[in-house]
Amino acid sequence: MTRILKAEETLDPTFLPPRLVGRETELGLLSQRYRSGLAKGLPYHQLLTGGIGSGKTALANRLGEDLQRAGKFGELPVMKMYVNCWRRSNDRTILLQLLRGVGVSLPDRGYALSEMLDVFEQGIRRTPRHLFVVLDEVSALVRQGTKLLYLLSRPGEVGLGSISLFLVAAEDVLPYLDAASRSSFGVTHRLQLTPYDREALTRILGFRAELALRPGSYSPDVLDQVARAAATSGDARFALEILAGAARAAEADGAGEITPEHVRAAKGSVFPTLTESKLEELSQNSLLVLLAIARTLRGPRTATPTERVRLAYQGLTEEYGTKAMSRVTFWRTVKELEREGLVQVEPVGTGQSARLSMDEVPASLLRTLVESRLGGATGKA
Ligand SMILES: Nc1ncnc2c1ncn2[C@@H]1O[C@H](COP(=O)(O)OP(=O)(O)OP(=O)(O)O)[C@@H](O)[C@H]1O
Ligand SMILES: [Mg+2]
Repeated sequence: MTRILKAEETLDPTFLPPRLVGRETELGLLSQRYRSGLAKGLPYHQLLTGGIGSGKTALANRLGEDLQRAGKFGELPVMKMYVNCWRRSNDRTILLQLLRGVGVSLPDRGYALSEMLDVFEQGIRRTPRHLFVVLDEVSALVRQGTKLLYLLSRPGEVGLGSISLFLVAAEDVLPYLDAASRSSFGVTHRLQLTPYDREALTRILGFRAELALRPGSYSPDVLDQVARAAATSGDARFALEILAGAARAAEADGAGEITPEHVRAAKGSVFPTLTESKLEELSQNSLLVLLAIARTLRGPRTATPTERVRLAYQGLTEEYGTKAMSRVTFWRTVKELEREGLVQVEPVGTGQSARLSMDEVPASLLRTLVESRLGGATGKA
């Protein structure tokens, strides 16, 4: 078997990429804000928001690692601490994790929050440093009410270093904070990440593929096909999952490179949009159009000109003994299939024929499914 995944672990969700493609501006801005605070020995707090897979967690960790590696600010180095506040966490469970991070442990019962904070300070005192504390998925904690954020954001003791917070949430959580904590997150201390578009996803995939896959095992077309499949959500995690799935499918096939069919197979298993019940609702003409697309997407094609599909469709109407739709009705049927999420119509420049693609399931599987719904091509309508 030819290996395609030369470094599979770099596609793991826990892998922190050395660079964040397309987020250089945001990273630069945040880095500069924290550095200028730290240089004065002052804490700085920031809230980062953005949609699923927009790179929030990666950005927080990248920033923390970079600050940690940057050497000393004033007299002291930086230590990054990361806590995911997602599952049933509260002030105490989070603080216990922070305590462990500075090398002290406490039984998780019998101590008041303020006592635990004292112990936390003792821990910091042993090795004075600036703490860069990432609190990821912080929404639930903030909504249920938290004292910890306030306590952590109050000015630290001189000589111990500072505690800077980096809050990460899907949406703006500041309205849920009490006024005192909110004031430490002035208007400039919020940043919203825009969703990745297809082009941004293609560039991210290119970079991540370079790290993870053998050169020559993937084409730009295949990366673009993956990006296209994830572009509606703008979710880089989804895109990387499809890429990893496609690479594994190709390896399992014994293929030397990832083909469009492997991408479709991966996408179908990550997020199936094509269900058999959807096919049941389609008219015979719609099924024939789908079949025409599936048949023209053979080989290395990720997309195919509409005109080619229409010709294939006309051939199929003869095969199945039905009357072909007019050009206009054919086009309307294509648009209906697009609304169903079964095909994608690629916008093109004027004077060119639009291109159709189908990334939901392997074209070969779609062929089989549609052919069995249509019954044999025995001339019956
Ligand atoms: N700009 C980028 N360059 C390279 N890889 C990226 C980039 N943005 C995101 N990724 C990768 O995409 C995946 C998803 O990113 P991340 O986990 O940071 O998203 P998130 O915004 O935290 O999502 P969620 O809201 O679901 O927690 C990760 O594997 C991450 O490494
Ligand atoms: Mg995240």
